[in-house]
Amino acid sequence: MAKRVIAPAGSLSGGIVLPGDKSISHRLAILAALAEGPSEIRNFSPSADCASTLECLQRLGISLDAGERAKSSRSASDPGTTAPVVRITGRGLGGWREPRRTLDAGNSGTTIRLLAGALAGQAFASRLSGDSSLRRRPMRRVIDPLAQMGASIRSRDGGFAPLEISGAPLRGIEYALPEPSAQVKSALLLAGLFASGTTAVIEPVRTRDHTELALAEFGVAIRRNGLRVEIPGGARLGGREMTVPGDLSAAVFFLAAASILPGSKLTIFGVGLNPTRSAVLDFLVQMGAAIRVKELAEQSGELGGEVEVASDRSTVLRGGKICGAEVARMIDELPMLAALGPYTQEGIEIRDARELRVKESDRIAVLAENLRRMGARVEEFEDGLRVAGRAEMGSSGLQGAELDPRGDHRLAMALAVAALGGRGASTIRGAECVAVSYPDFFAQLDSVLRR
Ligand code: S3P
Repeated sequence: MAKRVIAPAGSLSGGIVLPGDKSISHRLAILAALAEGPSEIRNFSPSADCASTLECLQRLGISLDAGERAKSSRSASDPGTTAPVVRITGRGLGGWREPRRTLDAGNSGTTIRLLAGALAGQAFASRLSGDSSLRRRPMRRVIDPLAQMGASIRSRDGGFAPLEISGAPLRGIEYALPEPSAQVKSALLLAGLFASGTTAVIEPVRTRDHTELALAEFGVAIRRNGLRVEIPGGARLGGREMTVPGDLSAAVFFLAAASILPGSKLTIFGVGLNPTRSAVLDFLVQMGAAIRVKELAEQSGELGGEVEVASDRSTVLRGGKICGAEVARMIDELPMLAALGPYTQEGIEIRDARELRVKESDRIAVLAENLRRMGARVEEFEDGLRVAGRAEMGSSGLQGAELDPRGDHRLAMALAVAALGGRGASTIRGAECVAVSYPDFFAQLDSVLRR
């Protein structure tokens, strides 16, 4: 397992071009495979998670080519880099083939849950599984509503992967999600394509709407009315050419690093700014971070733009509390925000976020343990944590330590950023896990770090 040494840094400066958004890439790949004819997806996420989705689609008889890179320039001032292009030849709703082997979703919750929806109404049987982390994550949340639609899914120990799906005729239902989850909503909308009648999903709070936007781009007459989304059964999807915006959840590590290292000035190009994802920007700005969004533009149904972040000696991050509906809107950014706690005045408190315990790791426990190793004062709750700020810690700050993110990509990156502002070097065990969402994270970080 690779150990990565993180030495304290001076500041960040220059520009970075983000990898394509992971959430959106999964959806476009699955929908392109369900469409009739060829699609081209530019700036596809280079993440291991999205590679898992592509591999599953290939095992389902879809032919695709993910080997190409093409020049991409996402705004007037974008330095221009190359990014992956994926070409997928869709076979229509009924064109997927029975897989001969288990479909391996790797570490990816989005892959297993969305594919469970797309496979439930097929005319064949399939088996979905993943790595040891994924096999510990709850799947009842998709199995139960899919069963209400008529699906037949067997799971291990009453709710864990492997999932054995015997394709069955589905009927549209109206389902009120008991907890916010874009993955569950998306699984039901995908299953809805195969169902008779209309499928309606009602969310308790608004979660990321990439599936809805992508379905509309592929020509499906999906309707939203407040928190209710409806999809008609049997829609036909047409192949498309699309471009994925950069991953805001990846940008957040750079926004945080630049905000805690005085003298930083960084431009992030091609950032996805879908309003259902961007609450984290509002939160950082409210805390006192100097973040400016420039050049807003729409591409393939999604908003994107350029984001600038700067800090100087007078930048003070106030700290704050995240709870209630805000949790779902910032779910993937919470580890980074928690790890900023010691760099804020009042600290960061996160509540109503029990969901963090069933992510790629128990993010509450693993964060608390690692931040404490760096000298942070952390109070752990069943549904969140409170990381004390400077007002309580005094001038002691964080110190270098041996950190173990337990193979969780977002924790590895959040802890690396926290370590940049500490005294003394830290080491991160198993740092290669960042490839789950962001293979170039450390290379891009190094390219903008000034010692
Ligand atoms: C995702 C939804 C969220 C998020 C995950 C990606 C998606 O999960 O945490 O990283 O792509 O739909 P939940 O739906 O479980 O909240």
